[in-house]
Amino acid sequence: MSVETRTEPSVTAAQPADLIRLEQVTKRFGANTVLDHLDFAVRPGRHVTLIGPSGSGKTTILRLLMTLAKPDEGTITVDGEPLFPAPEKQVREVRKKIGMVFQHFNLFPNMSVLRNLTEAPVQVLGLSKDEAEERARELLELVGLADKCGARPAQLSGGQQQRVAIARALAMRPRVLLLDEVTSALDPELVAGVLDLLRDIARSTDITMLCVTHEMGFARDISDQVLMFDGGRVIESGPPEKIFSDPEQDRTREFLGAVL
Ligand SMILES: Nc1ncnc2c1ncn2[C@@H]1O[C@H](COP(=O)(O)OP(=O)(O)OP(=O)(O)O)[C@@H](O)[C@H]1O
Ligand SMILES: [Mg+2]
Repeated sequence: MSVETRTEPSVTAAQPADLIRLEQVTKRFGANTVLDHLDFAVRPGRHVTLIGPSGSGKTTILRLLMTLAKPDEGTITVDGEPLFPAPEKQVREVRKKIGMVFQHFNLFPNMSVLRNLTEAPVQVLGLSKDEAEERARELLELVGLADKCGARPAQLSGGQQQRVAIARALAMRPRVLLLDEVTSALDPELVAGVLDLLRDIARSTDITMLCVTHEMGFARDISDQVLMFDGGRVIESGPPEKIFSDPEQDRTREFLGAVL
């Protein structure tokens, strides 16, 4: 029998199989240190929700993963490959594994719904137009908008636009889907439809989700793990039933008291 010697892992220690791994990531805007030697990791297929007060750096983390911003220090790896620091060519490859849906859908306004879904698969992944259209039609079916292929984004409701944005992200077949308060710009009566769609996707696919939301009921439903951010660090993490019902930290209790 072989004896394995290894150092005792800390709670946040990265595992080799992590899909996303941030190590000692620091991000500053001028004198404002938004992320302070942040460590966290997400295993494949997990649904992880980030919660925390406004300005605590949740969106900044997603923007770093989307390479819309760069850390000042630390390393980021996705699926074992460096995203930061990394040469530009590699960044482009690794980026293909990540899809993001924003609060404000950011659809291409001059393109049809169908073309919104086929543009990046054709341009970035090199799919043929026919393959991309087939994939797009399946996804529009999934999000309940098969009849809107020819519409322009402005002809759709906010909830429909957000469902197109989700389908557009999925059209790239990402390993991980980043969701930043995807329902917070919607009229209240449109929120449930979008959350139901995301629940469906979480249940029926093996996609990894990293989700920022103020919808605590939704977070409780879909998350395997909830991370509470404050002051640029994860101050507490655990399964939703623990974090929402019996948090360890006063700061978490105070935050949940204000939002629940
Ligand atoms: N481009 C930028 N330039 C300067 N400061 C920035 C920039 N982007 C974010 N910040 C600052 O970084 C901090 C974290 O912002 P971030 O958007 O990540 O917070 P958040 O947790 O997503 O908040 P919210 O819940 O309000 O969306 C804030 O203090 C914000 O003012
Ligand atoms: Mg934000």
